[in-house]
Amino acid sequence: MIVKKIESKHINQISKIWENNLKENLYSILGTKLIKVYLQICLKENNFGFVLENKKDVCGFVIYGKDNNINKVIIKKYFINIFYKFFLNLICFNFKNFYHFIDVFLYLIASNNKDEKLKNTCELLIISIEKKYQRKGWGKKLVYKAEKNIYKLKKINKTFVKTTQKENILFYKNLNFKILKKIFNRTYLLKKINYE
Ligand SMILES: CC(C)(COP(=O)(O)OP(=O)(O)OC[C@H]1O[C@@H](n2cnc3c(N)ncnc32)[C@H](O)[C@@H]1OP(=O)(O)O)[C@@H](O)C(=O)NCCC(=O)NCCS
Repeated sequence: MIVKKIESKHINQISKIWENNLKENLYSILGTKLIKVYLQICLKENNFGFVLENKKDVCGFVIYGKDNNINKVIIKKYFINIFYKFFLNLICFNFKNFYHFIDVFLYLIASNNKDEKLKNTCELLIISIEKKYQRKGWGKKLVYKAEKNIYKLKKINKTFVKTTQKENILFYKNLNFKILKKIFNRTYLLKKINYE
């Protein structure tokens, strides 16, 4: 198993892992097309990430950066598709997904990215490891590899992550993230990094 920088050739495999492992994520509800759009924009902008590869098969990935702009671009360009999915979930009485749309929408309005403690940080946007490789240390390895890059090349010494899942909080705490705050059911965790 090797850790490599994400390239556009990995997008198909990453989007499959994303959809299979992150069922609660709004992009998984919106579907493969928008996940791929997200990843394409991500790779073009100043974001970066790593994949875990086993004989050319991607088994996991992590992406860092800023996704406010990506979300804005996607909402603007694909508003009709998003509204269609929203409406479809409503008329099919799929209240779980419908709730997700409302939750993300309200969060986007309520969240304020001007928190001083989050200045000069880099956000861990998304991480996912294929089920059969989970709990074997690969998630930790990916995060450490990315942090080393952030520290050495981008000269940033703090990263943060936000999550709605309790079990993920345990994973991040294990990697020395500390709880910073809670907004709209999302726990923000912050980590100081030093790779001297
Ligand atoms: C969360 C996730 C990335 C963790 O990756 P992983 O490879 O399974 O985690 P690791 O094996 O590297 O675990 C590192 C440490 O965290 C601990 N840990 C991992 N998941 C944990 C959990 N759910 N509860 C408690 N501890 C956990 C491990 O025990 C390990 O501790 P150790 O170093 O003392 O042995 C992976 O489980 C996953 O892809 N989950 C589904 C997608 C997801 O929810 N992603 C996060 C939201 S973006």
